[in-house]
Amino acid sequence: MTDRVIVGVTGATGQAYAVSALELLDRTAVDVHLIVSDAARVTLRQETDYAVGDLLELGDAVHDVDNIGAETASGSFRTAGMLITPCSMKTLAAIAHGYSGNLITRSADVTLKERRPLVLMPRESPFNRIHLENMLTVTDAGGIVVPPFPSFYQRPDSVEEMVDTTMKRALSQLGVDLDHDEWDGVGA
Ligand SMILES: Cc1cc2nc3c(=O)[nH]c(=O)nc-3n(C[C@H](O)[C@H](O)[C@H](O)COP(=O)(O)O)c2cc1C
Repeated sequence: MTDRVIVGVTGATGQAYAVSALELLDRTAVDVHLIVSDAARVTLRQETDYAVGDLLELGDAVHDVDNIGAETASGSFRTAGMLITPCSMKTLAAIAHGYSGNLITRSADVTLKERRPLVLMPRESPFNRIHLENMLTVTDAGGIVVPPFPSFYQRPDSVEEMVDTTMKRALSQLGVDLDHDEWDGVGA
């Protein structure tokens, strides 16, 4: 199995999830092919202290979102799968309908057609029927929807810890196993 994964970052709120994913993957031997949308750059600036350049440095290879000729646009480029975090409703809609208008949505389409894991972390609130139907469509096509909903039972000490816990669970869906806590039950 290849140790390459594609990471797409889109313009939904929750850029901390992208930072977490890339920092966690940086601790592994996994080769990250990173694609950041134009809207993600705006949202990243709005909600984190990260410059876009800092984020891009965490990718082993960085592809322009408009470079539809990049390796990840072809199924012949073998990967262990793709993560999109956070995933906007626009990108979710495009993937659900096979509309491969940029390198993120094309790479996601390829990941699905090659039957490789596609993990989406869609973020919106509240969801309308279109959002929910699109998540169902992607799930029916083999995608894995992992909304960035935090859990509280570990009693996290910080937002970063909450984000990392959620991200470790998402990455495990791609076969990247970090030291995520296993629930060992609770007494009645
Ligand atoms: C600060 C900010 C927060 C946003 N939050 C969300 C969000 O949570 N969910 C969403 O679907 N779109 C959100 N958007 C809108 C998307 O960025 C917008 O629809 C964009 O066209 C998505 O493009 P992309 O999927 O190519 O990144 C947000 C935009 C900004 C500027």
